[in-house]
Amino acid sequence: MSTTDDLTRRGAGAIDGDDVVDLILGDHAEFERLLRILRSDDGDRATALGDLADLLVAHAEAEEAEVYPTLRSEVPDDEEGEIAHGREEHAEGHEELLALLEIDDVDSEEFSEQLEEVSEVVMHHLDEEEREVLNLARAHVPDQRRAELGRAFMSARAKQLASNPGNVDNVRRLVEQARDEGLLDD
Ligand SMILES: [Fe+2]
Ligand SMILES: [Fe+2]
Repeated sequence: MSTTDDLTRRGAGAIDGDDVVDLILGDHAEFERLLRILRSDDGDRATALGDLADLLVAHAEAEEAEVYPTLRSEVPDDEEGEIAHGREEHAEGHEELLALLEIDDVDSEEFSEQLEEVSEVVMHHLDEEEREVLNLARAHVPDQRRAELGRAFMSARAKQLASNPGNVDNVRRLVEQARDEGLLDD
């Protein structure tokens, strides 16, 4: 069984140094690892799902609180849209995650089909964030500022993880909030 404690030491928690780009990439690799466990008939799906939900929410909330606002102020004005778009993709990810968390049987066909949806939305976001947002940070944010952002990101992520943020009620609350803010179509 995995615990919140070891989740804090995986992904970004296993990366040496404070560079925010490296830390974010560390979590992205952990998302991919957890999705791979969820796809496998031999995987401990229930544990991997709980970990994925907690880490997806903690990571997205920490990016939105500590990383995106600073990047928006440091990149050229015509690039800010890429960062705003990241919030919409987080909301879409949470919406698909909520539908997955609401399926009781992790070995059902329904779970497998919804996992495909989650996987698609999350992988699309990682690809876009790495190509657009992280490259903006590489190009426009000096090393020392990137280290400060990395420390702020890790502190927000740890606070989030301590509250089991992937629980279904919290994910539902985030989806409703995103819908109220107009981040989701429908
Ligand atoms: Fe990310
Ligand atoms: Fe993100």
